[in-house]
Amino acid sequence: MNLITCKTMKKLSSLLASLIYNKIYRDFYQKKKRLMWGANPSSAVVQFAEFLMAKGVNEAFVLDAGCGEGRHAVYLAKLGFKVYGIDISSVAIEKAKKWITEAGVEYKVTLETGDVTRIKCKDYVFDVVIDINTINFIANKRKYLAEISRVLKPEGYFFLKILSDKNKAHGISKLEVNKLLNPFFKILRIEELEEVWEGIPQYQYKIFAQSLQPS
Ligand SMILES: C[S@@+](CC[C@H](N)C(=O)[O-])C[C@H]1O[C@@H](n2cnc3c(N)ncnc32)[C@H](O)[C@@H]1O
Repeated sequence: MNLITCKTMKKLSSLLASLIYNKIYRDFYQKKKRLMWGANPSSAVVQFAEFLMAKGVNEAFVLDAGCGEGRHAVYLAKLGFKVYGIDISSVAIEKAKKWITEAGVEYKVTLETGDVTRIKCKDYVFDVVIDINTINFIANKRKYLAEISRVLKPEGYFFLKILSDKNKAHGISKLEVNKLLNPFFKILRIEELEEVWEGIPQYQYKIFAQSLQPS
């Protein structure tokens, strides 16, 4: 009974989150008549793709966790990567599906509406995972990172762009980042980055990490 209740609660919380994000996306499109995250990849993802290619990781299977409208899925697919994008918002996923078709990379990209804290796939499936500002909006960050570590192959690369505590809302400190990642990943480097979104400066950390071997 408890198990059923717990599962039902998790499903309800995913459903609620999907309704909220769908509303956020719909309201944005109605007001601004353009993509919320823009038509270009973040410079951080461009840098990470260069890092992967320099390591000889060219045809990796990449999970884009919280892929939004698909700007990184399209970019990485054009470089030759195979991409699996998950987002809780079906509205964002519909945009992403349209975009990958227009870009002619639909054979390289699979997109699903879903919750990245409960990924429907086997263990150790992905060579690489990217999270571009998704983790900030996830309540149970530790559980989420455990899930990422479950689906990422041992020594697979994890690239995280996360709002830092220099921001007024949603950000987390470097100490907290370290504490959260340490049980699951070896941090290779953390760099600071400042970006502007809708005229507002966004302070970020770019984190290059690698999945630890399961003990
Ligand atoms: C700041 S946006 C970034 C979108 C995309 N990564 C990009 O850079 O263009 C964060 C995204 O995370 C998604 N998201 C939030 N919580 C999620 C969850 N539990 N599972 C899957 N996606 C989630 C939101 O719908 C949103 O698209």
